[in-house]
Amino acid sequence: MTTIRLGMIGAGQIAAFTAREFARHPDCRIVAVADPSTERASALARSTGAENVHNDADTLLDRDDIDAVYIAVPNMLHEPVATAALNAGKHVLLDKPFAVNADGAENVIAAARRNERILMIGMNQRFEAGVQRARQLCQAGRFGGIYHVKAYWRRRAGIPRLGSWFTNRATSGGGALLDIGVHVLDVALHLLDNFRPVSVSGATFTRFGNRGLGEGGWGRSERTFDTFDVDDFATALIRLEGGVVVSLEAAWALHQSRGNDHDVLLYGEDAGMAVYAGELFEPGEGGAYRVIQNPEAPPPAYPHGSRAEHFVNVLLEREAPIIDLDQALTVQRLLDAIYTSAAGNREVLL
Ligand SMILES: NC(=O)c1ccc[n+]([C@@H]2O[C@H](COP(=O)([O-])OP(=O)(O)OC[C@H]3O[C@@H](n4cnc5c(N)ncnc54)[C@H](O)[C@@H]3O)[C@@H](O)[C@H]2O)c1
Repeated sequence: MTTIRLGMIGAGQIAAFTAREFARHPDCRIVAVADPSTERASALARSTGAENVHNDADTLLDRDDIDAVYIAVPNMLHEPVATAALNAGKHVLLDKPFAVNADGAENVIAAARRNERILMIGMNQRFEAGVQRARQLCQAGRFGGIYHVKAYWRRRAGIPRLGSWFTNRATSGGGALLDIGVHVLDVALHLLDNFRPVSVSGATFTRFGNRGLGEGGWGRSERTFDTFDVDDFATALIRLEGGVVVSLEAAWALHQSRGNDHDVLLYGEDAGMAVYAGELFEPGEGGAYRVIQNPEAPPPAYPHGSRAEHFVNVLLEREAPIIDLDQALTVQRLLDAIYTSAAGNREVLL
């Protein structure tokens, strides 16, 4: 293959962003878009130059002029749509979260292996400049032994559209934890290079959305549901093999000073780092302590900074895949375990 012919399944808010990343790749062409909303599918097709619009995924998957698909549909459709795509012989970039639970994720992995197709989960945060820099510094041993990571994504008022699929458990599988907690959890384990959890203690809360409060602007799908039955705040303590502890917080809505408070803090024996803020903390000369802004690191492994471009490069055999399916499955198992722990008010051993 010299050019990847791409189909886009789901033409909602994130698809518009991801399409721009695919469009930047000189060897990728968007051929078709599928979405039950003709208006959204047509708008995305127009903006990407795709000549074909479909109202359902199956019609797009029947096309033999498509090599791969990007899937960005409501979470409960990740498993069936990704499985159908893999069974149709397409390579798949599936947006996060992997599925609504680990059983679903395992089924998609089985379909990828059975059909010998490439399946990648769209963990875009791994390509952020700060994360790539921190990863280089971790690999260079700059922090000494890291024993604690604090990973958080907390919004003051950032519930995606109240009443949409996001805020209903049957269609989303979960709330803030599954939606944004997944990102910083994945980044934490990726930086530690440790996907070997031992135990989890989690708690979840529904305190804003159920009162009609805390809505943000994300999401294009219709408002369909009256009830809000997912978490708008989640917290967890995760022990990893080797004794490292990760503390996680995810909030769609929270009383706090900042509108969006988001970082992964690394605490090592020799140095620490606020990954997204780009600040490194370490002892300096003569007993002084220093905070280094944007510390120097080897050049990023993925200068394009894009999961979409990475996916195309993997299909073209120009880059080795950075997003490992066993790792993605472990993250999904951890999310499941946090919900189990929260529901049962107890620690869960893995
Ligand atoms: N990586 C990220 O940072 C990121 C950010 C936002 C959303 N996402 C993920 O992307 C997915 C979509 O989120 P969104 O924010 O774009 O939501 P959205 O509600 O804006 O869009 C979802 C779209 O899917 C369409 N759809 C529903 N059923 C479909 C089907 N059977 N076939 C094709 N299309 C169908 C809807 O009509 C809608 O246009 C979710 O899984 C979400 O978790 C990832």
